[in-house]
Amino acid sequence: MSKRTIVTMPGDGIGRAVLEAALRVLDAAGFEADYVEADIGWEFWKSEGNPLPERTIELIKKHKIALFGAITSKPKDDAMAELNPGLQNKGYVYASPIVNLRQHFGLDVCMRPCHTYKGNPLNFIRRGGDGSIEEPEVDVVIFRQNTEGLYSGIEWSDPPENVMEALRSHPKFKKNFGDTPKNEISISTRVFTKKAVGRILKASFEYARKNGYKSVTVCEKPNVLRETSGMMYKMAKEMQKTEYPEIELWNTNVDAQMMWLTKNPETYGVIVAGNLFGDIISDGFAGLIGGLGFACSAQYNPESGIGVFEPTHGSAPKYADYPISIVNPIAMIESACMMLDFIGEKAIAKKVRNAVAKVVQEGKVRTYDMLKMTGKADVVEKGAASTDEMADAIIANL
Ligand code: NAI
Ligand code: MG
Repeated sequence: MSKRTIVTMPGDGIGRAVLEAALRVLDAAGFEADYVEADIGWEFWKSEGNPLPERTIELIKKHKIALFGAITSKPKDDAMAELNPGLQNKGYVYASPIVNLRQHFGLDVCMRPCHTYKGNPLNFIRRGGDGSIEEPEVDVVIFRQNTEGLYSGIEWSDPPENVMEALRSHPKFKKNFGDTPKNEISISTRVFTKKAVGRILKASFEYARKNGYKSVTVCEKPNVLRETSGMMYKMAKEMQKTEYPEIELWNTNVDAQMMWLTKNPETYGVIVAGNLFGDIISDGFAGLIGGLGFACSAQYNPESGIGVFEPTHGSAPKYADYPISIVNPIAMIESACMMLDFIGEKAIAKKVRNAVAKVVQEGKVRTYDMLKMTGKADVVEKGAASTDEMADAIIANL
């Protein structure tokens, strides 16, 4: 069989260090692939006026599977100031390459698992009724709709007159905002389509069925956001009844969910939500299992099979220039395991996860975040493992 080609996008800052660590682990675990590096991020914005060059899009289109480190993005004014002087005032506008990737390839399913590793000192603990310490085991997988909702990018400040006219046709707008001058109004729209909602629901129910989860929780706010959240919950009820009768459908409000996740996180299994709420609850659950050093994600298009796998964290620019990289590569390595699952290399993924679990449980090799140190260049001298030492320890346990 010919070797598969994986597109690698280190991006900016710590992206390269964690990606290189993950590739070493994949290699040692026996995963055979060719890698082709693709350009993405701030450097390409600065030099070419495009953080997601067309050649990168072409590579992903061709090879379908990509591993992604992280990128840096900065506010509008900084983006302009740092742009190559030869390109300034030529109409270049910075746009997030991540959002563009999602929209370009329709990577509408985002999956963010949050599993407790035993022995991780960052695990959430709570006090039991008798004052004892309990460490509930979190085993949650969040499915976040990745392309619509409040992140659709359909927004206005001082909206154009035709938009105002449409809004005024709604009785509630007229009553509550009718007297507000248009230049004092900002609007971000929340668009849900049946197609995308159906796809994220389907992905979550399928995952629950295949992996033996007993419940799927729709985490939205249907009692208030009656049209969008209401549509998702209604479609979920229908889907559960006709296609997944063996799986329980639960319905939580996102605000209450944020409270319950620190009370009884072990109760939840698969959770599905729109874009913003999915973003929020996945960060909430990630906080229970170790935070950014452990939070991994997959985003994919179930039809085309294109998938991009990346840690949730960003480029942590302040650590990027340390002579020895100190950040935890586990989030990136876990993301690579999600890639392996996606392309059918489940045995290798399992092997890698077991090795990570052993290292975490043994507790001899811990990056600075696991030791609850402040991230500084001297943490390695003080006993924290570097990015590479963590990768080495995982490799030694394969
Ligand atoms: P960040 O995730 O880069 O870093 C926040 C803090 O979390 C770091 O200072 C560090 O203390 C910790 N941290 C992050 N990754 C870690 C790891 N692997 N191990 C241990 N500790 C880790 O978020 P921040 O500082 O808000 O953003 C920095 C840049 O990254 C910005 O330009 C932002 O736009 C971008 N960003 C990119 C993302 C992506 O590429 N997907 C996601 C989030 C932010
Ligand atoms: Mg986030």
